[in-house]
Amino acid sequence: MKIYSLLPKGFAKRAKLTPRVQTIQPGDPGLPRHVAIIMDGNGRWARKRNLPRTSGHEAGLKRVREITEECGRLGISYLTLFAFSTENWKRPASEVSFLMNLFHESLQQVTEELHGQEVRIRFLGLHDGLSPALRKVIKQVEARTAVNQRLNLNLAINYGGRSEIVQAVRQLVSAAQENGVDVEKITEERLAGYLFTAGQPDPDLLIRTSGEQRISNFLLWQMAYTELYFTATLWPDFGPAEFREALLSYQKRSRRFGGIMEGRVK
Ligand code: FPP
Repeated sequence: MKIYSLLPKGFAKRAKLTPRVQTIQPGDPGLPRHVAIIMDGNGRWARKRNLPRTSGHEAGLKRVREITEECGRLGISYLTLFAFSTENWKRPASEVSFLMNLFHESLQQVTEELHGQEVRIRFLGLHDGLSPALRKVIKQVEARTAVNQRLNLNLAINYGGRSEIVQAVRQLVSAAQENGVDVEKITEERLAGYLFTAGQPDPDLLIRTSGEQRISNFLLWQMAYTELYFTATLWPDFGPAEFREALLSYQKRSRRFGGIMEGRVK
């Protein structure tokens, strides 16, 4: 029996009862398989509160944990987070060193917890330039979580899309020279096999927080057909509710990958 039938006649209309709000359900087949996020706005979040920029990064780290958990809960298989770009070295030395320490310490702290949640952690980026201590932790974390299959968490640290493509081309050319590969045999798939994301699906959805509407050298090759979602919310304010908003927006998109909608000729 519908609840409306128990109410006085005309009540539903007067009370403007609305249909059930659309929600995101775990395992929904309309969810993206791979979500990439440019976590922007930590500095502005801190400035608004008269706090040092570093407090913004600390607050941002809490959101990293929450969004990672939410992806695991919803059954999203890949989450890629842009944590530090090859351009971020231009920041004041004190902020760079704070961020490097934050990566180092938080990775050590959360690895066991994420391992328990069957999260596989991988790093995208150039290891040159990172401290030997951070490189060591990265190696340990990747090895420790390598067996996990529930959620693949990619952390882009010292990452730049163009440099990723250049290092892939270098490896491809040197393999081609060694094995005498025919130039015609160089395909998109072969090149993609030398990217940091080799073997992983391309992102279905990119989220960028803080109102900026740029790609900023992130996953240039992989984002050829990614749906883009920009929000004014600053990263430290971007929690599971805001994440679900982005997923709802994604579910309304019509993805055609250059083709046409079935049944449409125009
Ligand atoms: C961009 O905001 C944010 C960063 C460069 C750092 C993001 C890093 C974290 C959230 C910590 C993640 C930790 C792990 C282990 C993945 P911004 O500083 O550019 O902000 P602004 O544009 O407001 O100045």
